[in-house]
Amino acid sequence: MERIAVIGTGYVGLVTGCCYAEIGHEVICVDIDPDKVRRLSLGEIPIYEPGLGELAASNQAAGRLSFTTDLARAVQDSSIIFIAVGTPTLENGEVDMQQVRGAVETLARQMNDYKIIVMKSTVPVGTSRRIRQWMEEGQQRPVPFSVVSNPEFLREGTAIHDTFHPDRVVIGSDDADAALRVERLQAAFGGEVVRTDPESAELIKYASNAFLAAKISFINEMANVCEKVGADVSLVARGMGLDNRIGPKFLQAGIGYGGSCFPKDTRAQLKIAQNADYDFRILRAVIEVNTLQRERFVEKVTAALGGNATGRSITVWGLAFKPNTDDLRDAPALDIIRALQERGAVVTAYDPAAASKASALLPGVRCLTDPYEAAENAEAVVIATDWEDLRRIDFDRLRSLVRKPLIIDGRNMFAPAEMAEKGFTYVSVGRPAFPGPV
Ligand code: UDX
Repeated sequence: MERIAVIGTGYVGLVTGCCYAEIGHEVICVDIDPDKVRRLSLGEIPIYEPGLGELAASNQAAGRLSFTTDLARAVQDSSIIFIAVGTPTLENGEVDMQQVRGAVETLARQMNDYKIIVMKSTVPVGTSRRIRQWMEEGQQRPVPFSVVSNPEFLREGTAIHDTFHPDRVVIGSDDADAALRVERLQAAFGGEVVRTDPESAELIKYASNAFLAAKISFINEMANVCEKVGADVSLVARGMGLDNRIGPKFLQAGIGYGGSCFPKDTRAQLKIAQNADYDFRILRAVIEVNTLQRERFVEKVTAALGGNATGRSITVWGLAFKPNTDDLRDAPALDIIRALQERGAVVTAYDPAAASKASALLPGVRCLTDPYEAAENAEAVVIATDWEDLRRIDFDRLRSLVRKPLIIDGRNMFAPAEMAEKGFTYVSVGRPAFPGPV
């Protein structure tokens, strides 16, 4: 069993810490925010992630998981140190490395004996080498250490499952012994191991996210073509996805991707290429298409309202960037709502998890946790997040509540023909309104 410190109790850090504790390691999670640490110690989980609260509680009770602000003690008590601090994007598109640098510099000062420093945060190419340099500069006396890049691929909402069932484990290091020790640590989770140099490991993370984002933007452009030629993008995606070289996943057309990773990582990758004097044309288009898709959708909603949104009551179902999370970072719904407000619409919103968080971000919008209440007197119901509970909506009840039976679905949740049968005018993305697929 290893003694592990995890620096940063954000999404990645918290999930990583809990999962390692769950397989028997002794884990101490460190954060600079005393209030957060206090709340975590009391069992309050600051993020919405199914199963994480239970995992944290049982491991705290078993004495394998603890939280502290005392980085010095955490470092000295551990042999493997994961860095999982935030790497936000700066105005100019560069990755803000301040938190990583801060953590590494403190780490350097606190080293008492050999440590393996494992980089979990998504960081630009060359970071492993920069960490080595910062460590050497920051140490008061030379203490040996190794640096390993071990990027994280977990998805919000399924983070625990993803950690326990990884498709692959990427380990990039120049130090074979340290790489092997991290590999052994991960062995309990399974997944094919890809051993690389540090630079390749750092790029694999960006390349994977950029490629998935490209799949989404590709199918969204296909959807736009489908609308023009009268085809159905869900059938096109199905036909494409059955080719196992393409695969069916990430071919769901809609209002585009959001969240804390794809928007940030695609922009960062573009910048990384630019800094290396390379214009990554496809990626530039992927990002542009994603922005345009939100704008197109606002046009679609306005058109469905007869070309004018002024003074119209619109209900938006779904605020989080995807289901099973309360994360609103770069959520398409927020942009769409703001654009509808700019056009004069009065917006009421529903989200089962993100409503209260969203009210602070959306002045003038009533954010509720009941889809029916949110839809009262609506002239249009807009679907922005494909929450599972929306699949169980009682459409008769909905029809009796709304002013007009009009649904504009940005996630293609329902079959157009069925919606027409239920008495709704139903507009979706890349599919004919009616009769729809047979
Ligand atoms: C993503 C990666 O999947 C994960 O491997 C990485 O570690 C972090 O970034 P996440 O941001 O949690 O994870 O969300 P994901 O499930 O990948 O969805 C991203 C966005 O794409 C969501 O807004 C989702 O609605 C959208 N999406 C996804 C589509 O629009 N269509 C699709 O077919 C799939």
